[in-house]
Amino acid sequence: LPVTVYEDQREASVAVARRIATLIRSKQARGEQAVLGLATGATPVGVYAELVRMHRQEGLSFENVVTFNLDEYYPMLPTAVQSYVTFMHENLFDHIDIRRENIHIPDGTLPLEEIHAYCLNYEQQIEALGGLDLQVLGIGRTGHIGFNEPGSAPNSGTRLVTLDDLTRRDASRDFGGKENVPRKAITMGIGTIFKAREIILMAWSGKKAPIIKKAVEGEMSSEVPATYLQLSDNVEFVLDKDAASDLT
Ligand code: F6R
Repeated sequence: LPVTVYEDQREASVAVARRIATLIRSKQARGEQAVLGLATGATPVGVYAELVRMHRQEGLSFENVVTFNLDEYYPMLPTAVQSYVTFMHENLFDHIDIRRENIHIPDGTLPLEEIHAYCLNYEQQIEALGGLDLQVLGIGRTGHIGFNEPGSAPNSGTRLVTLDDLTRRDASRDFGGKENVPRKAITMGIGTIFKAREIILMAWSGKKAPIIKKAVEGEMSSEVPATYLQLSDNVEFVLDKDAASDLT
């Protein structure tokens, strides 16, 4: 697996933001749309901040950009402070010139019986645009990518999933206690992520070092969903020194 290690998270985030900007500009030059798969959480915050800076200071336009977020808690109101809708608007969308109709984030308000059709449609919307050009990922301490927890199938699609206990514990600070963290989420599948033409998985800090070691060097297994990325020819791990510190 290609692994690039940076001195710190800031340098790494700037490098990833530059790659995204290059993709957007090359698509623009050809009169095409760039289709981006986006993640939330602490990991991509610096990437989004750098993209906002490039928009403000370097004229980077997102007019030709379409985005699909990986996941959303379920149930979750878009207006809640913990929603991934709120996160994406605060960290990126409110500060750039993306068209509102080009933003896609799984809907955490659907009645249960509508979720299956909604998820199929999410996949179809991605396909109809020619697929994801680039998928940005973080990694959870369970080895999840998106919210594909241990046990997820390599060919899984967008669906409703149950969150792992460790994932809910890691989210408990945002919710003021684990008991307030939703038990479920809607997530793109491993199969959905895999179809992206380029995948960048980012991880920072020593807290992620053990799971990064498993993901990169461990045996492929549904117990660590990120190990499936070992099968992809289009994936790169972008790490800071601390997240890479257990790699041999
Ligand atoms: C978020 C997502 C998750 C996170 C992962 C790491 O959209 O899909 O897989 O990337 O839980 O979260 P942080 O970055 O907060 O450590």
